[in-house]
Amino acid sequence: MPETSRPVVIAIDGPAGAGKSSVAKALAEHLGIERLDTGSTYRGVAAAALRAGVDLSDVEGLVALARSLEIDGEGAVVVDGADVTADLRSAEVNVAVSVVAATAAVREVLVDRQRAWVAERGGAGVVEGRDIGSVVFPHADVKVYLTASEEERAKRRPDEGSAGVARRDRIDTQRAASPLTLADGAHLIDTTSRSIAEVAEEVLSWL
Ligand code: DC
Repeated sequence: MPETSRPVVIAIDGPAGAGKSSVAKALAEHLGIERLDTGSTYRGVAAAALRAGVDLSDVEGLVALARSLEIDGEGAVVVDGADVTADLRSAEVNVAVSVVAATAAVREVLVDRQRAWVAERGGAGVVEGRDIGSVVFPHADVKVYLTASEEERAKRRPDEGSAGVARRDRIDTQRAASPLTLADGAHLIDTTSRSIAEVAEEVLSWL
């Protein structure tokens, strides 16, 4: 696999259960750089809103939470001084996050924070989400769109279930604000019957 000494940004997008986190982890480890799971920023705002009783239709309230969000290299998320990391994958957050992510004003703030996270790391990172190649880092060194069969993706999200995954994907692809889409120049990879190492190797070959 090729090694690189200049700072690189790898953008990984795709629906839930496509294998983004596993592939991003393998790439980050191989390159010796950090990984940012941007889904956890949207989840962090949703979790904090549920904790603080901020209504999901209260755009200003959500934006205030987004502005206070801090994320460390280990993936811990602190919003408004509270560590919400343990709540990020709860059933309630799985539902609320779609509303938060469809709120354009929240996205604007979180996209700034995501770019700042990479800038603080010398301009390098493996960044995964839904709009990374299209909006957050349109000039990323490599853009990848991962997908997998619906059946396989549901299998990879046993807690959420196939109906939950399908609902979230529908909202993510159909919302007006930065919908999930195949970005210009992105490589499409179906991970259904491929190993993480195999996919990571292919992505590295494009660097
Ligand atoms: O990656 P994830 O499943 O943890 O993401 C949770 C939700 O956050 C996802 O359903 C949509 C939203 N999201 C987004 O809108 N944009 C991103 N860059 C990352 C996630």
